[in-house]
Amino acid sequence: MPDDSPALAPNIAWQVDGVGRARREAIAGHRGAVVWLTGLSGSGKTTIARAVDQILVERGIRSYVLDSENIRHGLSRGLGFSLDDRVEHIRRVTEVAKLFADSATILFVAAISPYRWMRRRARDIIGGDFLEIHVATPLEVCEARDPRGLYRRARAGEIADFTGVSAPYEEPVDAELVLHPESESLEQSVGKVLDFLDSFNILRLPMP
Ligand SMILES: Nc1ncnc2c1ncn2[C@@H]1O[C@H](COP(=O)(O)OP(=O)(O)OP(=O)(O)O)[C@@H](O)[C@H]1O
Ligand SMILES: [Mg+2]
Repeated sequence: MPDDSPALAPNIAWQVDGVGRARREAIAGHRGAVVWLTGLSGSGKTTIARAVDQILVERGIRSYVLDSENIRHGLSRGLGFSLDDRVEHIRRVTEVAKLFADSATILFVAAISPYRWMRRRARDIIGGDFLEIHVATPLEVCEARDPRGLYRRARAGEIADFTGVSAPYEEPVDAELVLHPESESLEQSVGKVLDFLDSFNILRLPMP
């Protein structure tokens, strides 16, 4: 639904989608959704999202990955990792994600999104299309993997506000799915996400 809060530009009206969500989904043959993966840096959000996305696209499903890091190269360029900047970054990611769901796309958002209230706000804005997956790799495992050496640099004081080291990560309490990449293979995690999408009837539409 349009946001009717007082607009900075008061003569802006909500422009209606002529095709409509239901028609878009009927043609796609599946629902639109936002599958939000949260977890520590190096937990496997990107790896898992990309692996599932690859399978879905090969099946002819409209799927896409919105990686928080890529958004920081464009739409969120100029935003850093202070609390204010993280909030604004996630707000932008959320609003874009909502549009993808409306376009009948299954969108995987890979974003640390470290605060519960931050993800709660995303859930509130996106509504019933929002599904949260906690990629629950423990800090010690992420730190041991340290694929880009970021934990090492954060421990050395070279990176400020690094989640899990010098900034908090609040584990989800209401995630629809929890993955444990520290004790399951990538294939197992991918299988769980596919089963999960099925269980929420994302991959097929209800009978008319
Ligand atoms: N079972 C697994 N599932 C996912 N990733 C795994 C698994 N086992 C090992 N890895 C490795 O863990 C790392 C996770 O990196 P990835 O960039 O996907 O994480 P991320 O959560 O997106 O982190 P970042 O916040 O740094 O982007 C990769 O190097 C990947 O190869
Ligand atoms: Mg990533």
